[in-house]
Amino acid sequence: MCGIIGFAGYKNAPEALLNGLSELEYRGYDSAGIACFSDGVIKVLKSVGKVSNLRKELPPDLLSFCGIGHTRWATHGGVSKVNAHPHTFGCVTLIHNGIIENYHELELILKQQGKFPISQTDSEIAAMLIDSFYQGNAYTAIRDAVLQFSGSYAFCIMFSDQPETIYCIRKGSPLVCCCSEQGSIVASDMVALLRYSKDYFVLPELQIAKVTRNSILVTDLEGQECTPKLLSITWDLSSAQKNGFKHYMLKEIYEQPESLRRTIMPRLRKTDDDSVLLLPDFTEDNIPDSLFSNINRIIITACGTAMHAGLIGRILLERLLRIPVSVEIASEFRYENPILDKYTLVITVSQSGETADTLAALRLAKNLGAKTLSIVNVKGSSIARESNAVFYTHAGPEIAVASTKAYTSQLAAFYLIAFRFAYLTKLQTDTQCSLLSSKLFHIIPDVEQVLMLADKVKKISRNLISATDLFFIGRGLDYALSCEGSIKLKEITYIHSEAYAAGELKHGTLSLVTEGVPVIALATQPDVFSKMISNIKEVRARGAFVICITTQDAVIDPTLYDQKLILPPIDPLFAPFCTAILLQLLAYYTSLLRGLDVDQPRNLAKSVTVE
Ligand code: AGP
Repeated sequence: MCGIIGFAGYKNAPEALLNGLSELEYRGYDSAGIACFSDGVIKVLKSVGKVSNLRKELPPDLLSFCGIGHTRWATHGGVSKVNAHPHTFGCVTLIHNGIIENYHELELILKQQGKFPISQTDSEIAAMLIDSFYQGNAYTAIRDAVLQFSGSYAFCIMFSDQPETIYCIRKGSPLVCCCSEQGSIVASDMVALLRYSKDYFVLPELQIAKVTRNSILVTDLEGQECTPKLLSITWDLSSAQKNGFKHYMLKEIYEQPESLRRTIMPRLRKTDDDSVLLLPDFTEDNIPDSLFSNINRIIITACGTAMHAGLIGRILLERLLRIPVSVEIASEFRYENPILDKYTLVITVSQSGETADTLAALRLAKNLGAKTLSIVNVKGSSIARESNAVFYTHAGPEIAVASTKAYTSQLAAFYLIAFRFAYLTKLQTDTQCSLLSSKLFHIIPDVEQVLMLADKVKKISRNLISATDLFFIGRGLDYALSCEGSIKLKEITYIHSEAYAAGELKHGTLSLVTEGVPVIALATQPDVFSKMISNIKEVRARGAFVICITTQDAVIDPTLYDQKLILPPIDPLFAPFCTAILLQLLAYYTSLLRGLDVDQPRNLAKSVTVE
């Protein structure tokens, strides 16, 4: 979604803003703009398309030390220069990430006052409303305006008569801030602050930050000064760069042995010095054991790939705990009037920790009295802060829109949670939990081995580049992985793809399987292997081009497939880590060979902060 940056400092603001916008590009956008104080007036520049287009329009002599910049992902109003941010009305120039849901009602009121917008955006209405309340006091104008907004927002606002100053406020959409020797910076996420500082704070909701070159002063809506909690990150700028890889996605695929190590290792402990038992321990995470007691039902809710991690989590938790677990799409769950109580554990999963629907689902679960645990990658994000407990995945910054290392770290989180839960509730023996935990630790070399198949996957992906439709099929864990394989492929290759529980094909979809249609068949689970082979025969009989992913010991008639990828020897319960990586590589190379923008696919945003 939209990216925001604000800078007040000692270096050239336009350069700082453009660098920040380039670092936020991965969030997904269609136009960009900046506004800077220069010679005491606010100068605005906008362009459609990439930040590089905006850079070309920058006058070389634009001298400024304070400004705001924005990458826009269109919601209200098409992609055009006039709809790009910043928006100016009267004294106010602002940038906005979010949606003002009642903008139309507000627009009607403003029109009655003889004020008319020039764009089709809800953000310009926000600028108009703030301006209508402004009589020299920024705080009261912002407060009076936000009290009228419904929806979500992060704003950076400049007033034409307050040079070198930016005001910020947010609700629902993210905004992080830091002070450094080079000045004060605010942004939609940490990636844009990294070049300045590793220490930052999340601007609390409905508090106003007054940003000047020497300080960021935070007050609540009553004017009381507040001290937000300082956080720091453990990774540096190089973690958020490509480091010699052609794309962020490829780099992030290859980072998985390391990201898994970071997620798994700190949570595995021997029960005592002399013990041979290795078990998950969440003491450092401050996840209390009481969270897992008296639970008779688990609901996992998330969006997209994070939700697919939940599909694997469901199977695992049900197998080990024998209590009902369901997976709900967050955008559905939040409006379904769900039945929850204090015996329900709701697990929300989110890489960004800012996905609007997942955040709303979490808030609903809390209001209805359920216990909440979140699995989140971004430290200090809204979902992490608002859950009863948080399991951080430590995957490091994920820049490519297609989620890869965050997904496998989410899987690792589910395995650890399931093992800890089963251990605490004695639903599995200590020895069994320990055995499973050490198998989890041993997936790391298996993942390294799978990455060595990249060239083979690249060759296989040549068979997909001219496909118009394709299918992923599997059963059990492999069905959950099919869903993930399918979303990964469609989001970056633009090939229509669907995932099916293999047994479901003949209830309708088989009519679409004709000569040459690619079917990626996952057959890694021994309990359903023979059934899966029957399903492969069904698609093969209709002429499908079959790419089979299976295990070393599986015997499959070679006439049933065109291409085969074999996992390293692995306990089938842990196979998803390896299968997922093969599917990521398949999507990556297909997109690459089709000549597409792998890291920033059209229409998509990395962090979906609006409904
Ligand atoms: C993944 O490849 C997608 N780009 C997308 O489905 C993503 O997983 C989803 O938007 C959820 O994001 P989150 O993990 O930040 O909540």
